[in-house]
Amino acid sequence: MCKKMEGMSVDIPEGAVCRSELKTVEGVALVDTTADNYDAISKFQARPDDLLIATYPKAGTTWIQEIVDMIYNEGDEEKCKRAPVFIRFPFIDLWPSVLIPPGIVHAERTPSPRIIKTHFPFQLVPKSFWEQNCKVIYVARNAKDTVVSFYYFDKMNRGQPDPGTWEEYFLNFLQGNVSWGSWFDHVRGFWDKKDKHRILYLFYEDMKENPEREIRKVITFLEKDLPDSVVNKIVHHTSFLVMKENPMANYSTLPKAVFDQSTSVFMRKGQVGDWKNHFTVAQNEEFDEVYKEKMSGTSLRFRTVL
Ligand code: A3P
Repeated sequence: MCKKMEGMSVDIPEGAVCRSELKTVEGVALVDTTADNYDAISKFQARPDDLLIATYPKAGTTWIQEIVDMIYNEGDEEKCKRAPVFIRFPFIDLWPSVLIPPGIVHAERTPSPRIIKTHFPFQLVPKSFWEQNCKVIYVARNAKDTVVSFYYFDKMNRGQPDPGTWEEYFLNFLQGNVSWGSWFDHVRGFWDKKDKHRILYLFYEDMKENPEREIRKVITFLEKDLPDSVVNKIVHHTSFLVMKENPMANYSTLPKAVFDQSTSVFMRKGQVGDWKNHFTVAQNEEFDEVYKEKMSGTSLRFRTVL
């Protein structure tokens, strides 16, 4: 029997988590539990010193969370290992979740300064973040690697809708018929607003190319001053290989009933260009055609190889 659960239980039996259906809110596809509770989520009260980490799924959310936590803790990795990533950073979109209470309740119980995660597109972010003039870090990743990463994630995350075959998923992604909606609208939405609010807009590809340079941008944005030795520690601690082995960052503490990492590990490849191992020539042509249309008129540019 498939049953949705709330609360802090860590003993999640096989079959306790069921795959969601998609519903729309203001035309954006969301998992049903988020859509059903969106009214309450939208009333969430941000505090002025909240930092919002906003991403389309699979853009490098966990990576930037770890970077920010290391900055807040001045390079003390033991402090950053105080709890798994999903406990350290409330994820306000979730309702209900299995191991932790609904995201907004989790956030309310978290002491300031809070680092809050969302995958909502700009227009669905609770308004109080803008009213409070909160800082926001947005990370964007090229669409081709995102769809591949998202496909594997949806296979292993048993709370997500069933992704179906790769061919089906590919088309659903292009149509925005996946959780949190259209990648195109998401990256464009924050890009268009980045100069009207305190938004630092980063790219996964830049972070791969030169993590130290991008980490320094984050440090400046957060108005911190850290010595080179601490910056070097942050670069090391947040590298793919170190995070892959860190149980507080790699989601391995979530039970298999939630994240079945025997299907695909959360820290999967961490590369730019893995899409080439998945796209057929025909899919690539189709993707490029849709991309051209959906991205027309924007100055936003992505790299799909380094
Ligand atoms: P892949 O599936 O391509 O490997 P999110 O945290 O937004 O869900 O994103 C997860 C993606 O970011 C995964 O991509 C994961 O491997 C990658 N990732 C996580 N930490 C990373 C790091 N330190 N360096 C590079 N990629 C990282």
